[in-house]
Amino acid sequence: MPHPPFITLDEKSDAPLYRQIYEVIRRSILSGGLHSGRQLPASRLLAKQLGVSRMTVVNAYEQLLAEGYLEGRGGAGTFVAAHLPEEFLQASGFERAERREKPPARKVRLSEYGSNLARDGRTILRHHCATALVPFQHGVSAVEEFPFGVWAKIAQRWQKRPPAPILSYGDAVGFQPLREAVAAHLAAARGVRCTPEQIVITNGTQQALDLIGRLFLSRSDEACLEDPGYIGARDVFSATGARIVPVPIDDEGFDLRKARKRSVKARLIYVTPSHQFPLGVTMSLTRRLSLLEWARERDAFIIEDDYNSEYRYAGRPLASLQGLDRDGRVIYIGTFSKTVFPALRLGYLVAPADLIEVFAAARALTDLHSPSIEQAVLAEFIAERHFARHVRRMRALYEERQRILVEEARKNLKGMLEVAPAEAGMHLIGWLPGGTSDGEVSRRAAQAGLNLSPVSAYCINQKLRGGLLLGYAAYNAKQIRQGVKKLAQVLTEVARD
Ligand SMILES: Cc1ncc(COP(=O)(O)O)c(C=O)c1O
Repeated sequence: MPHPPFITLDEKSDAPLYRQIYEVIRRSILSGGLHSGRQLPASRLLAKQLGVSRMTVVNAYEQLLAEGYLEGRGGAGTFVAAHLPEEFLQASGFERAERREKPPARKVRLSEYGSNLARDGRTILRHHCATALVPFQHGVSAVEEFPFGVWAKIAQRWQKRPPAPILSYGDAVGFQPLREAVAAHLAAARGVRCTPEQIVITNGTQQALDLIGRLFLSRSDEACLEDPGYIGARDVFSATGARIVPVPIDDEGFDLRKARKRSVKARLIYVTPSHQFPLGVTMSLTRRLSLLEWARERDAFIIEDDYNSEYRYAGRPLASLQGLDRDGRVIYIGTFSKTVFPALRLGYLVAPADLIEVFAAARALTDLHSPSIEQAVLAEFIAERHFARHVRRMRALYEERQRILVEEARKNLKGMLEVAPAEAGMHLIGWLPGGTSDGEVSRRAAQAGLNLSPVSAYCINQKLRGGLLLGYAAYNAKQIRQGVKKLAQVLTEVARD
């Protein structure tokens, strides 16, 4: 019989006994003390152990069942829900702690940057929190397909007999063999024109964006962002106090005509030309050339986020914007989150030659450098061709997973969600019938154990038809089929209500 959570009841408290039981169980679930799938004691048994009436325990359980923390499994008993509602799953460590104890309010004078974060902190933490790997959470690779055996062998070599220099402080710009491997990969695969000296290894794209934001933006400077677009970029640039100028997307990508009208003095322009996030448009060559010209006229810099360029299944890949730039205006950024795994926290930026030093200095002041052994392992993983082999294998796998998703959607979601195939990427957009709120569908899907981000969450000013991001890379055929069936149920219920 499962152990009951540690519950002490306070007879003198104003809170009714059922509420006290409810609170203790809820807090144990949120703090991870009671895991998903864990069975709770039968109400009769718990009532006996606590010395309360069975009805008191039943009331507490019923409240938790109604809120989605618990689930009943027929005669088998009561369990912590396998899929907690999204808002709880996505609670960051901070939010969980926050729910436990509220610190007394006081006025603290923070820097301008600190004040911006104090204003937006809660929203930022909601955007950047641990994500549960349930269909159709996007942006996550097929982590279980990663060749951990090979990785472990390389790591073991470095960890068993690490050469002394690697254990001391390293270069702010990164481990030299990794910079060389990245430069060679980008030249061959993406037409990026750079020397290894221009590569700065970062802790993922997020750190690259943070360094760029702090180096280029002061209060009220303009940063042009795609709308809809990547929240990671929007949050970083807003935190600097910059004015965000949202620019819509047309069928050639970043709508330059609108940008010209809306922006007076753009300092930074953030784009995802290979595969616009989240809509998936590839920026045309003409648009790329015009964008470079506009940046030159304005003396602005372009950030090219090439976050998943490795996954193109059809059509000719266009070389990077950086490769077309003759003026040192493009800062190219990339990540190993999609090709290795997100928890590695390694990525890179390619700095224009005259800005290497300032980037290196900013990196040195931030956190000195990325962990050296991980960089060394990754460098060897690339040099020994394991990286190229893994990416090739994943490209074929993701193409197949996308095909299954499209086929299942055609069979099960007709008239409820339009899902068209895409030439690249790790997610598709499913468009809802006009007038259906994607936020509402996303919330209802979370209650059914699915994770579907609504397109509206990425919009700044744009009002688009409701849509859902359907990540497929991380899920096998069975998970995709089951996920689509669940989604069909959710959409049928939403249409009925
Ligand atoms: C547009 C875009 N850029 C970058 C990333 C990756 O960020 P990081 O390298 O910080 O993991 C993502 C992740 O989903 C993304 O969607």
